[in-house]
Amino acid sequence: MTKLKLQSLTGMHDILPEDQGYFKKVQKSVENIAHYYGFNRIDTPILEHAEVFIKGTGSATDIVEKEMYTFRSKGDDSIALRPEFTPGIVRSYIEHGMYNLPQPVKLWTLGPCFRHERPQAGRYRQFLQFSLEAIGDKNPSIDSQIIQMSHDILKDLSFKNITIEINSIGDKECRPYFRKILINYFKSRKSSLCSNCQRRLRENPLRILDCKEEKCQRVKAGAPQVIDHLCENCHIHFKQVLEFLDELELPYTLNPYLVRGLDYYTKTVFEIIQKSENGAIQGTLVGGGRYDGLVKLLGGRDTPASGAAGGIDRIVNLMKTGGVKLDKKKEVKIFLAQLGQLAKRKSLKLFEEFRDAEIPVAESFSKDSLRTQLNTANKMKIRWVLIFGQKEALEDFITLRDMETGVQKEIKLNKVIQEMKVKIKK
Ligand code: HAM
Repeated sequence: MTKLKLQSLTGMHDILPEDQGYFKKVQKSVENIAHYYGFNRIDTPILEHAEVFIKGTGSATDIVEKEMYTFRSKGDDSIALRPEFTPGIVRSYIEHGMYNLPQPVKLWTLGPCFRHERPQAGRYRQFLQFSLEAIGDKNPSIDSQIIQMSHDILKDLSFKNITIEINSIGDKECRPYFRKILINYFKSRKSSLCSNCQRRLRENPLRILDCKEEKCQRVKAGAPQVIDHLCENCHIHFKQVLEFLDELELPYTLNPYLVRGLDYYTKTVFEIIQKSENGAIQGTLVGGGRYDGLVKLLGGRDTPASGAAGGIDRIVNLMKTGGVKLDKKKEVKIFLAQLGQLAKRKSLKLFEEFRDAEIPVAESFSKDSLRTQLNTANKMKIRWVLIFGQKEALEDFITLRDMETGVQKEIKLNKVIQEMKVKIKK
């Protein structure tokens, strides 16, 4: 019998201690920028009724059709692991009557999402996303603020060569007409499309514009562009978004074929991509847009909204390959060594007092021999070792050893924190 080798699931990865700093840095940056712009944190459950995404993300999208992890609960409900945040946040907005709050309600979140995608570089089955959602405002300035915040986060993380691609895909007034024109165009060229797009022609023709297959790219090059078929309302909205972006001096390019793979978008859609020095696309880091119909679709009032989400694992990968440096950890300058039961107990208390004073202290409470502990301190290149033995514990003092000179001195226990503060400042 072959022995089963236990490994993480395909497309799912561990975040090891040495990488935690990168993830923390991204999280801090998202949090700071979100709070600065008045966004409040929300956390929704990882599991939702599958219906939230079938209706919200859209039943004909790749995410719902092929990639969603669904299962039946013991009560026979159809449950899904969230493939994205937006529909769950909208569900929460409706459930908690957030339309009673001053609008827009600005929310941000961060956590794991799940998509059963074909694994490839930067594409995982469990990945971390951050999401920014502004619900309850139809003003184009909100779209540009979301784009600016997304751009700010990446800039704050030292990304260069980032481009904002932007488009408008119209709304329920103008999109049905454009859909018809598009179907007519592709119908007469159906045999030149990949099999996936031949199916999309029936269900989701706009997605053909987004297809990366070479044969479809050729057909799409002559396809009608949605931007030429926007109704007046969508046209004005888009123009104003671009004017705001110009005002903010954000570098954007119009991409008439950008449609995004989720059904709820109306008007503005955008992506922020990273290009290498030679202009090759390295990955989409953030994607988003306006979704004016989603709140109503999920059972709420007619409420406009706009948002974006970023892929944290992808951002971290590029930070690492791009050589982004992490902030240095607070250097540990003190080692607490202890001998015997009483000293061990008292050391735990002293350790807590150092924590209260925000002074980092290393220890190896599990080791009993003083020599081993001093060796550890040496390996960690720590100069100051506090030795807490039986005698010290009984008489309430501690021995301080300077590892550089070998000189030792005694300090009263109630003066240790104060004295060490002075020592480590030198
Ligand atoms: P999305 O484009 O599906 O949009 O995902 C946003 C970002 O999440 C992507 O640009 C990418 O960086 C990251 N991402 C997506 N799938 C994966 C994956 N399999 N592995 C690693 N990273 C991934 C949304 O999710 C929308 N909810 C965005 C939004 C918010 N629109 C309005 N509000």
